Amino acid sequence: MRTKIVAGNWKMHKNAEETEDLINQLIELVPSESTTRIIVAPTFTNLASAVDHLEFINIDVAAQNMHQAEGGAYTGEISASMLQSIGVNTVILGHSERRAMFHETDSIIADKVSTAMKHEMEVIFCFGEELKDRQDHNYKNIVEHQLRDGLFHLEASDFARIILAYEPVWAIGTGETASPEQVQEMHAFIREVIRQKYGRDVAENLAILYGGSVKPDNAEELFGKEDVDGGLIGGAALDAKSFAAIVAAAK
Ligand code: PGA
Repeated sequence: MRTKIVAGNWKMHKNAEETEDLINQLIELVPSESTTRIIVAPTFTNLASAVDHLEFINIDVAAQNMHQAEGGAYTGEISASMLQSIGVNTVILGHSERRAMFHETDSIIADKVSTAMKHEMEVIFCFGEELKDRQDHNYKNIVEHQLRDGLFHLEASDFARIILAYEPVWAIGTGETASPEQVQEMHAFIREVIRQKYGRDVAENLAILYGGSVKPDNAEELFGKEDVDGGLIGGAALDAKSFAAIVAAAK
């Protein structure tokens, strides 16, 4: 049985005080015996304090991005070892906002994944088709390419530190959720693509999260699907009550 995972991507929201506030509320609301793995991804400036606050709590902290280089003249960027030096060992890579607004290509993302693997970090690898790909019935092709170009240089053993997050771009922050049937269809397809390349064990052990307008009222149905192992949550993760309700839906 794969463990369910619910991850909150806080994007460029919440200053230091608001982050602390949200974390304190989550500590109150999320049961300490929850069997679901919980991850939160505050912005860079609030990572260290989040790690401190959550040290003895069953909530892990992830970064939202990192640079592929070990270090050097990359003004404004953050490296893997900088994250690890403050106790952050998980990173979200390939988010559609990074791909679209910050021009991250599959090959840049593949390099970032390699750097994370080299540092034995865990990666939440995001991918998903745009609306036009879905309308053109080309969505499976697009997703297969994103997986191949972003991940297929890895060894099977690396997948112990990979979490996939299928996030159709048309469902992110739009209030339009993919239907549970659409999500299950894609997750089964994704698992099959992984199985063909890496074999049954890797595919069966891999967590595949869904992201895109997950809310307390649709989470249970989405997470109930066979190949859906939890969610990557944006907007609804910014409110402690709704995030806790989504965690509770991931039984
Ligand atoms: P959303 O964002 O839940 O606000 O749609 C999901 C994401 O960007 O990971």
